[in-house]
Amino acid sequence: MEIARRKFDTLIIGAGGGGLRAALQLASAEAHVAVVSKVFPTRSHTVAAQGGVNAALANVRPDNWHWHMFDTVKGSDYLGDQDAIEYMCRAAPQAVYELEHFGVPFSRLDDGRIYQRQFGGQSMNFGGEQAARTCAAADRTGHAILHSLYQQNIRAKTHFFDEYFAVDLVRDAEGCLLGALVMDIASGEPLLIEAKTTLIATGGVGQLFRTNTNALINTGDGMAMALRAGIPLQDMEFFQFHPTGIAGKGMLISEAVRGEGGYLVNAGGERFMERYAPHALDLASRDVVSRAIATEIREGRGCGPRKDHVLLKLDHLGSETVHKRLPGICDMVMTFLGFDPAESPIPVAPTAHYTMGGIPTNRFGQVVVPQKHGPEEPVPGLYAAGECACVSVHGANRLGGNSLLDIIVFGRAAANHIIEYLRENRYHRPFPDDGLEAARARLARWEQQGDGESVDALRGELQQVMEADCGVFRTEAVLADGLRKVSALAERMAQVRLRDHSRVFNTARIEALELENLMECALATVATALARRESRGAHTRIDYPRRDDVQWLRHSLYHRETRSVDSKPVRTRPITVDSFPPKERVY
Ligand code: FUM
Repeated sequence: MEIARRKFDTLIIGAGGGGLRAALQLASAEAHVAVVSKVFPTRSHTVAAQGGVNAALANVRPDNWHWHMFDTVKGSDYLGDQDAIEYMCRAAPQAVYELEHFGVPFSRLDDGRIYQRQFGGQSMNFGGEQAARTCAAADRTGHAILHSLYQQNIRAKTHFFDEYFAVDLVRDAEGCLLGALVMDIASGEPLLIEAKTTLIATGGVGQLFRTNTNALINTGDGMAMALRAGIPLQDMEFFQFHPTGIAGKGMLISEAVRGEGGYLVNAGGERFMERYAPHALDLASRDVVSRAIATEIREGRGCGPRKDHVLLKLDHLGSETVHKRLPGICDMVMTFLGFDPAESPIPVAPTAHYTMGGIPTNRFGQVVVPQKHGPEEPVPGLYAAGECACVSVHGANRLGGNSLLDIIVFGRAAANHIIEYLRENRYHRPFPDDGLEAARARLARWEQQGDGESVDALRGELQQVMEADCGVFRTEAVLADGLRKVSALAERMAQVRLRDHSRVFNTARIEALELENLMECALATVATALARRESRGAHTRIDYPRRDDVQWLRHSLYHRETRSVDSKPVRTRPITVDSFPPKERVY
């Protein structure tokens, strides 16, 4: 069958904040840019980001980018690459002012400047008093950013392929990126998009875990595509569990609640963070607070009949403040729990939230791969930005408010590099006759019904295994068992049965393709968690409780073909300032 073809300068896969920020930069520079999104763009997961975006504007308390850099390096448990962190923190104020000019309706101080709230892991003066660095549009900051960026893209005439699913990347024999095979979800028609440059901006893989804060679309599609194209994934063992998801349900209760003065208590009414982080208390970094909550629950001090959660109190803040600063939280708690959080505490527990690892890139957004001999090199024409990428500014633990910053800073940086690349690479590379074979075979496989288990059942089992065997606390034995179980699930994928209903056939096919992607990412996550024999950031090994900078101040790399893990050095040298050497991390 002949496949329809379209040609663009740049193909962007994913229409969240990273993809749209890049698209806007490119379209404004007159590049011919296509954005492929499996959902209508304003439904991308950036829309769910609540608390805000970090930038040292110093609107509320003294601040500067260097303090922000220190907090980010410390928050990353020293695994973040310091050149990329310096770049991001320096770029943050301008990136936020650009958003303001694009029309993002930030909350305001009385003098009209952008409102900034306190968030976890922030300090003044390199570890001193609490800073207030998170620029907020109430508690719907991601929503405000995504809608503004989408509107600006419409004005800039970015070409959108809405509700198209990206199946696989296409590379030529020299490894250069030629574009991707995508599929129109409604009709099932495949389409080849040829592009001189391709940017992956598909977000994270929160659907690996049963209880998570993520949209159903977060199935690691871009990461899995990279793996199938021969690119290893970096630092996949570092998965962030947000301290405060609604217990048993998973919806995000923003860190903004604690930033505005809310605090956690256990079954005895004790403000337990005083024991775990005497200085920062409830605004310690996320890995610290999540471990503290999980410990309270494990040691029997949890609340409720099953003692499986703690309580987040904000009734002392006053109804007016709570409803003004946290309207989205009030709506959500009313909808899902049936009460007003200004009056009663919210039951919360650590919930899978954010993928720190991903496709390895440098600070220009270029995807980089290790070479047999010599330093790593960029894959010509391939870029990645946002949660699917690992640049790595978050290292072993991301600070709240740094994810929106990551997408806008590195979305723009990647676009700027692409503009340069397009100047030097003005023509599409020839497309080989057999260029589409692998991607077509992947699609064709799901044109037939297997007669085994359903996609739903297998995905449910995968999520249970990941939650039980690769959660907040990990051990060798449990991880090894988890790896065996995930490998067996991946084998069972071969016989999977699509949802047996002709009218939803393409939706069912997409679910199967997504599950394949989840399986790839699950294998990468458990294999790297098993390999890393230390505790660092969000990766807590009960059997290796200490951080080991001698052996493990390195990024892990997971290779799909051999299902093996090796590593590469951390970039500890910033661009213009001195390094922050690893120190004991206390809050
Ligand atoms: O808690 C939050 O509002 C989440 C923010 C983030 O993940 O950066």
